[in-house]
Amino acid sequence: MIIKSLELADFRNYENIKINFSKGTNILYGDNAQGKTNILEAIFVSATTKSHKGSKDKEIIRFGKEEAHIRTILEKDNAEYRVDMHLRKSKSKGIAIDGQKIKRASDLIGRLNVVFFSPEDLSIIKNGPSERRRFMDMELCQLDQIYLNNLSKYNKLVVERNKILKDLFEHPENSVLLDVQDKQLFEYGSVIIKTREKFIKDLNEIIRPIHEKLTGEKETLSVFYEPNVKLEEFESRLKQARKKDTYTKQTTVGPHKDDFSFMIKKMNAEDAIDIRKFGSQGQQRTASLSLKLSEIEIVKRAKKENPVLLLDDVLSELDSNRQNYLLNTIGDIQTIITCTGLDEFVNNRFEIDKLFKVTEGTVSSEN
Ligand SMILES: Nc1ncnc2c1ncn2[C@@H]1O[C@H](COP(=O)(O)OP(=O)(O)OP(=O)(O)O)[C@@H](O)[C@H]1O
Ligand SMILES: [Mg+2]
Repeated sequence: MIIKSLELADFRNYENIKINFSKGTNILYGDNAQGKTNILEAIFVSATTKSHKGSKDKEIIRFGKEEAHIRTILEKDNAEYRVDMHLRKSKSKGIAIDGQKIKRASDLIGRLNVVFFSPEDLSIIKNGPSERRRFMDMELCQLDQIYLNNLSKYNKLVVERNKILKDLFEHPENSVLLDVQDKQLFEYGSVIIKTREKFIKDLNEIIRPIHEKLTGEKETLSVFYEPNVKLEEFESRLKQARKKDTYTKQTTVGPHKDDFSFMIKKMNAEDAIDIRKFGSQGQQRTASLSLKLSEIEIVKRAKKENPVLLLDDVLSELDSNRQNYLLNTIGDIQTIITCTGLDEFVNNRFEIDKLFKVTEGTVSSEN
């Protein structure tokens, strides 16, 4: 699957643009705040219906405008597909594939698979559990519609349950609602736990050789799922936590509190260490890079096709060894890279198929 073109109308700082991409390596370069990341965001929205930054539709629409449009033309097995998105300030977005409206945003998932890589991703391991969960969820939602549906229902239930808990003092009669809520939380939450378990198992197979290579065979990396609650205990723990939850007005048990640990064992060491807590900055960054590189392989295996790789200003964050490794991994994957300068490519035997200059909401092709 590749993206042939992208058209934007009133999207962020773009009034009206069309970009024709190469199926190989595309570079978007320009000064800060010109709109480079906005292009990648538009592609990410077309693939997943959501912003990689978690922005709301009304924030994405160009200042002073009421709506925005994104049109992507995709190519797969020599056939073209058109995905149209219509973002509105106060309504949910409209989506059409080849002119046919789709009912649920989740029906789009899987059409276009992207791997988005930004400098913040290099801090996934250093940062808190919510970012690690977000990473896993973004990945899983792209790959698995059932997971996506379960997760959005589950998240809604947690919000609703917290609201009931907050109002319980004034509306004690609502406590019966919590019984129904807990049943549903368990039902949807169980799917999330099981899917995450499987995902981490598959991830380990992929990440281990990547990390070994990245560290010159010096380290072995393993990822562990740390569920907030075990599946077998989920129902009873929810019940037990009711009193505490009523007091704290928060749902304290469930997969919305999960985490993942990253353990590194040096080749000659006896024990592995938890690099969330004890890793050096470099170790954490390299392991984060291994994680992102695994994402490419996970999509390839699950979808039997290449994802589109979006690299937002990351090359300058990596030393030349890691840059080379990343660029070698890309192979024949369509890649869209943003950067402020072209210096980082000069020393690389790196082929640029298309070069675009981004200036104040305009994009011009330079070759
Ligand atoms: N809803 C919006 N409407 C109009 N302009 C917007 C909107 N949201 C963001 N912008 C503008 O988009 C610009 C930022 O674009 P973007 O993040 O793509 O820049 P960039 O080229 O990636 O910069 P950097 O190199 O610093 O990462 C800012 O000037 C910001 O004011
Ligand atoms: Mg940017």
